[in-house]
Amino acid sequence: MELPKEVRYKTYDQWTKAEIEKIEERISQSPWHCNYHIEAKTGLLNDPNGFSYFDGQYHLFYQNWPFGAAHGLKQWVHMVSKDLVNFTETGTKLLPDHANDSHGAYSGSAYAIDEKLFLFYTGNVRDQDWVRHPLQIGAFMDKNGKIEKFNHALIEQPEDTTDHFRDPQIFQYQEQFYAIIGGQNLNKKGIIKLYKAVNNQVDSWKFVADLNFDNSGTAYMIECPNLVFVDGKPVLIFSPQGLSRQVLNYANIYPNTYQIFESFDPENGKLIGPRKLENLDFGFEAYATQAFNNPDGKALAISWIGLPDINYPSDQFDYQGALSLVKELHIKDGQLYQTPVDAITSLRGEAQAFADKASSSNTYELELQVPANQVTELKVFSDGKGRGLVLTIDTKSGQLSLDRSQVGQQYATDFGTIRTCQIPQEDVTLNIYLDKSTIEIFVNQGNQVLTSRVFPSKEESGISIIKGQVSGNYYEMRK
Ligand code: FRU
Repeated sequence: MELPKEVRYKTYDQWTKAEIEKIEERISQSPWHCNYHIEAKTGLLNDPNGFSYFDGQYHLFYQNWPFGAAHGLKQWVHMVSKDLVNFTETGTKLLPDHANDSHGAYSGSAYAIDEKLFLFYTGNVRDQDWVRHPLQIGAFMDKNGKIEKFNHALIEQPEDTTDHFRDPQIFQYQEQFYAIIGGQNLNKKGIIKLYKAVNNQVDSWKFVADLNFDNSGTAYMIECPNLVFVDGKPVLIFSPQGLSRQVLNYANIYPNTYQIFESFDPENGKLIGPRKLENLDFGFEAYATQAFNNPDGKALAISWIGLPDINYPSDQFDYQGALSLVKELHIKDGQLYQTPVDAITSLRGEAQAFADKASSSNTYELELQVPANQVTELKVFSDGKGRGLVLTIDTKSGQLSLDRSQVGQQYATDFGTIRTCQIPQEDVTLNIYLDKSTIEIFVNQGNQVLTSRVFPSKEESGISIIKGQVSGNYYEMRK
């Protein structure tokens, strides 16, 4: 939604109680709220931030502008979870209340250090002429959620980047802290910069190199870079903007991508042995995925189910955005797998035979088997009269497609209404998580993933098998 910047950058204390009540009232009227996915209490949710493990539980924040469905003065909103399925907001926020983050506490990461959680993020600062000065800044959060910010910037804007320089990810490699930061160089190309903590202390950072990762150099900006170790291999996840479609075939305004490597050489700032650049997700929206290694070394990831620069039907209720389920990452036969964490099954109700389901609550999981050598067509969010989200699983030619053109309120149609991906020409399993206005499809235990939003009408809540054979279970999902 286009709101004047005077509104978007009003400081939080300038919003009156009456204005806030009106915003709360509007959001409560939406028919599209998710039951088991994270949404903002109010306003816009975008990137997951600070995903980490600290003090015996998981911590996760979301980027948020709390006053409407627009990208305004951002804060981080804090949540905790024991099982990565049930998250609770604690009331703690990383507010844009310091001279070094005066125009937004932009995206970043977190890492438990001693008895505190270190938050490493971008302070978006604009001067009187609205010129942006991005600063990489830090804070420590204690066990009670008390946040203390460093007064000095930890990393200033380098001379060889534009003002697009943000989203630090801290990680440890061989006991040493490093950070990677997304940016744009003076030739307007997307790059990732690598830094190293001086004496392994996070209050001082030294530039190592522009990360050498087989960058095609066709994007004009790289947002939210994440390096995570998956079954021993470094995997770089990032959100390039303006990437050439000759380099990677993608349909959304911006893709979320990844590359698997053989090894990491931090001294030379190089990721060695690149495999092909790949789409992390084949649905209509998944972006800014944040991944980290938990203390057991497990790689965990979570995505924003949304995209920058897109208007959403929920804007009419003054809110936007949701977070995906938390996914565990693995590499099998050289391929990345993303699977919802095991604890997701704790939300399942009784198993019911899929074939018997015609109507639904639009909050369920389907676990389905589709045989080889046939074309299966399913409709979810179906109104029983022809409208619905069409999922075609073609195990003959090895293609899966999702057609959003005949369901719900239409939006972002400039980028097409169908998404496709390749699947094996064999029996296929599907885990489909549907939640009022989100759908996440995991093909063959997460070998391919399609994440999307749908904003259905009241009638669009059924399931129909249009053709083909498909069997499996339906599980109602608890809140
Ligand atoms: C990605 C992004 C980040 C930035 C944040 C601001 O969606 O643009 O690069 O830090 O959102 O909210």
